[in-house]
Amino acid sequence: MGSKAAAKPGFAYSPAFAKSGITWDAARMDAWLQRPNALVPGTTMVFAGIASAKARADVLAYLQTLGKQ
Ligand code: HEM
Repeated sequence: MGSKAAAKPGFAYSPAFAKSGITWDAARMDAWLQRPNALVPGTTMVFAGIASAKARADVLAYLQTLGKQ
């Protein structure tokens, strides 16, 4: 959270994600976890998403506890 997307060295990000221009805030992360391919068409995060707003809020709360890298 607070980091630029696709900016961590050593990862082979998809072209679509690499040029998304996202900086991770709560609203962007919520949208990403609801449906990655809707926020970034062409992303290789093959994950249907978390339908439950409560479950997404719980994951966001956890991500907020992680250090910015
Ligand atoms: C609750 C579960 C998940 C969470 C919280 C999560 C979170 C994230 C986040 C925050 C990023 C962006 C990383 C960055 O900006 O550097 C990301 C990217 C990615 N994730 Fe996930 N993810 C989840 C599930 C999955 C699953 C199940 C897969 C694969 C089966 C996956 C594969 C990927 C890939 C490949 C990327 C890079 C996307 C691209 O380059 O287009 N993730 N994930």
